[in-house]
Parts: sequence; structure tokens; C-alpha cells
Amino acid sequence: MIKIILSMFVLLASLSAEEVNIYTHRHYPSDEILFEKFTAKTGIKVNVVQANSDQIMKRLEEEGKYSPADLLLTVDAGRLYYAKQKGLFQPIHSKFLESVIPAHLRDKEGYWFGVTKRARVLVYNLDTVDPKTLSTYEALTDKKYRGAILTQTSANIYNQSLLASFIAHKGREAAKAWAQGIKDNFARKPTGSDRDQMRALAAGMAKVAIVNTYYVGQLMHSKNFSDKAVAEMIGIFFPNQDENERGAHINVSGIGVTKYAKHKENAIKFIEFLCSEEAQKVFTSVNYEYPANKNVAPSKLLQTWGAFKEDQIDLSLLGKYNAEAVQIFNEVGWL
Ligand SMILES: [Fe+2]
Repeated sequence: MIKIILSMFVLLASLSAEEVNIYTHRHYPSDEILFEKFTAKTGIKVNVVQANSDQIMKRLEEEGKYSPADLLLTVDAGRLYYAKQKGLFQPIHSKFLESVIPAHLRDKEGYWFGVTKRARVLVYNLDTVDPKTLSTYEALTDKKYRGAILTQTSANIYNQSLLASFIAHKGREAAKAWAQGIKDNFARKPTGSDRDQMRALAAGMAKVAIVNTYYVGQLMHSKNFSDKAVAEMIGIFFPNQDENERGAHINVSGIGVTKYAKHKENAIKFIEFLCSEEAQKVFTSVNYEYPANKNVAPSKLLQTWGAFKEDQIDLSLLGKYNAEAVQIFNEVGWL
């Protein structure tokens, strides 16, 4: 009898327990820390489903209104835009989020919010390149960089978004000329991750690579001795900084409440927590990303890389021009 009463208590407790269900394709220690902190603070249990970005989006789409997911956390504004177009999100309003997340880092109608900012910049080989000779993304198409540029394939969404930003700012023709010029200067057929580009750069294969800054932080703090050495051999350069220039390309990791969320209030609380000063400090110090909350300073390490002017383009445009960017990559043979 006591056993039955006890198990009824357990059942009741689990039924009344607050929870929130997250689909994510981020796989960083910073996020694990934050899930735990959120539960400790609010008593709301965080259930996480992790998979690659396409799988997780497809799963959400197929599950429709039966999906247990309350939130979708993913990287790149192109994907967030796509999720909104596919009807996977619902709009939310939060005075806090609207006041701390700058307008260009979130969806205007509240379907998604940037939680971290990442800059896609130039890194250079300290031995062979004087940073005074670097200036813009456009300058890398010059003949003097023939055989000297490294970056990922065009399947990489970070490159798709970078090219989409060119389309948004300068039109299709200029974007295509840039993609063609970079492709003509490749040091090798694109392969590997951003970290792999930096490994090849440090090995002397090229002069400049186009990568996201947090990967530099990851190499610096790697347990792998040779990756630490790679980080010591490269410098970070923020391009397009002159007065008449648009600034370095930035993107976000972002989150939205799913259309059929069963725990909407908890989901909003979770997004507000991720954008709080406490959580933003974890993102910037543990994963080397820039805070999306305008009131939170980057970590000390990121501050040593210097302040920079960022492209303030409405990030939804990266999604809007994604298909056109992919088409251009195919046309110029940046595959
Ligand atoms: Fe990444």
C-alpha cells in the first residue's frame, strides 16, 4: 500500500513538473552549462533533442502539431529565415528581448531571436602576411592573391550567408564577380571545416582564410597541442572597416518558439534566460561568440581581438537571398 501511494506521488510530481523541450543542433559545452543553470534557476526541466541541422528541421516539419518541441535552436540567420518560411515558428512578444537584442539580429515579427553573434572574418598567416596589406573581402579577388585563399565549400551555410550579404548590398552581378574572383584565387579545392582552413593556413598552404572567429578561440583552447600551435601562427583581421565600408559580416545563432509549442510560457522564459547577462557571459567566455545582448561586453579574449564595425544588414535578407547565392556558387564553380 505504501509503495502504491509513493509511486502515485512520483507520478503526480512528474505530471506537474514544469518542463521545456528543445530541438537543437548546437553541440557546445556552453549550452550544456546553460541548460543546467536554467533548471537550477526556474525549476523547469530542459529536455534536449540534438541532431544535425537538416535532420532536426525535417523532424520538426514532419511531426507537425504532434511535435513535442517547444523551441528550435539553430545557427545561421539563413536557417532561421527558412524555418519561419516553413511555418515552424510562432511569433512571440517580449519587452525584454525587444529592448536588449538589436533589431537587425532578430525577426521583425518576433518569430526568432539571435542569441549569439558570430563574425565571419579574415585570418592570415603571421609569417607571410602584413595585416596592413589587408582591407576588404573584395580585395581578396586581386591577382596578387592567386593560389592564396582558403575557405569551405559552398555547401557551407556560413559562406552562403556571406555571399547573400553581397547580393543584398551590391546586387547579383557584383556578388557573382566576387565569388568568381575568390574561386580564381583558391589555394586548393575547398574542403574541410573552418578549423581545417586554419590548419592549412598555418602549414603555409595559403595567406588568408575566411572563417568564423569563435573557431580561433576553440583552437587556442584546444587540448590538442598542434591546434594550439596553429592558433599561435594566425592573426585575425576584421575587413571592410573604413568609414565608407559596411563593416565585417556577422551572423547569429538563434532561437524561436515552435508553432505548436505545448509549453509556450516556459519557452519564452528560456529565450529570455539565454539573452540575460548571466547566459550571454557564458556564451562569450565558453564558446568565444559575441553577445547578442547589446548591454553585455564580449569576453576578455574577444576584446583582445579588438572592437570592430559590424555589417548592420537585416539578417533576414541572408535567408531571402540564400537560393540566389547557392545558384551563383554553382555558376562560378565554387563547389
Ligand atoms: Fe560553427
